[in-house]
Amino acid sequence: MIKLACPVCRHELDGVTYGCEYCPQFVGRLVDDVPDLVVPHQLLDPRYTFEVGRYDDIAAAGPENYAGYAATKPEYRARLWSALLKEQAEFVDVGPGFGMLEEVEQDKRWLALDLSTGFLNRLKDRWPERVCVRALAERLPLATGSVPCLVADSVFQSIVDREAFLCEVARVCDGLFLFSVAYGWNYPRRPQQGFDVTWNDERVVLRRYLEELGFSVEFQWINLDEEVQVLNRDSGDYVLIVCRKESLS
Ligand SMILES: C[S@@+](CC[C@H](N)C(=O)[O-])C[C@H]1O[C@@H](n2cnc3c(N)ncnc32)[C@H](O)[C@@H]1O
Ligand SMILES: [Zn+2]
Repeated sequence: MIKLACPVCRHELDGVTYGCEYCPQFVGRLVDDVPDLVVPHQLLDPRYTFEVGRYDDIAAAGPENYAGYAATKPEYRARLWSALLKEQAEFVDVGPGFGMLEEVEQDKRWLALDLSTGFLNRLKDRWPERVCVRALAERLPLATGSVPCLVADSVFQSIVDREAFLCEVARVCDGLFLFSVAYGWNYPRRPQQGFDVTWNDERVVLRRYLEELGFSVEFQWINLDEEVQVLNRDSGDYVLIVCRKESLS
């Protein structure tokens, strides 16, 4: 069962408390009905300020006015992901954006995390009863081992510290971890930092890293234009990385 936890000390939160009783330096805030579980000093980093501003602008524009959104084939991607989530009763979505996946997965329990309150408020308007939390992918406000399934569609390329994200996923996830990268959009937007994934070597670098974190890894290359799965990245423009945590017991 997915459990929220303090992003500083990992103390479990009850879903109602927006601060941590053990961390005076971390005071959760309620922002437009969306609990803010971001460690405050992280947001002083200009790299995050930049991402927050950029994504809040996109959220404000709305999918209908965000140029190029249709070309990212959101409905098709949502169908692909939905098929992979078939066996799952609940999942955490890191970076839900406009909530395409949430739209098709209303029968499941889902929890959405994003750094943009713009996106989260849209989701909250649409699904007031769902848990939407402002947080960073690099510092997940989730209890260790409490997440049976975690997804991040087209988010990895804009994460400031990708290594921290993967380590956090390995900490909280006790099952399936699905993430993707679209080669054509959003990438590379800036020199790589932190975890320097050389995309030419993704099958080696990323696989090895994820395996060291305890996941088995499978790559699925997709051609979004033609909406088909392809044999390798040369004929695709999107890769889905399906990771499964092998149980230690
Ligand atoms: C390219 S959009 C993808 C949205 C949606 N998953 C989709 O595929 O249509 C990236 C999303 O990740 C969020 N995001 C980017 N960097 C993040 C970070 N470091 N922590 C949390 N969310 C982040 C953005 O606010 C945005 O919602
Ligand atoms: Zn704490």
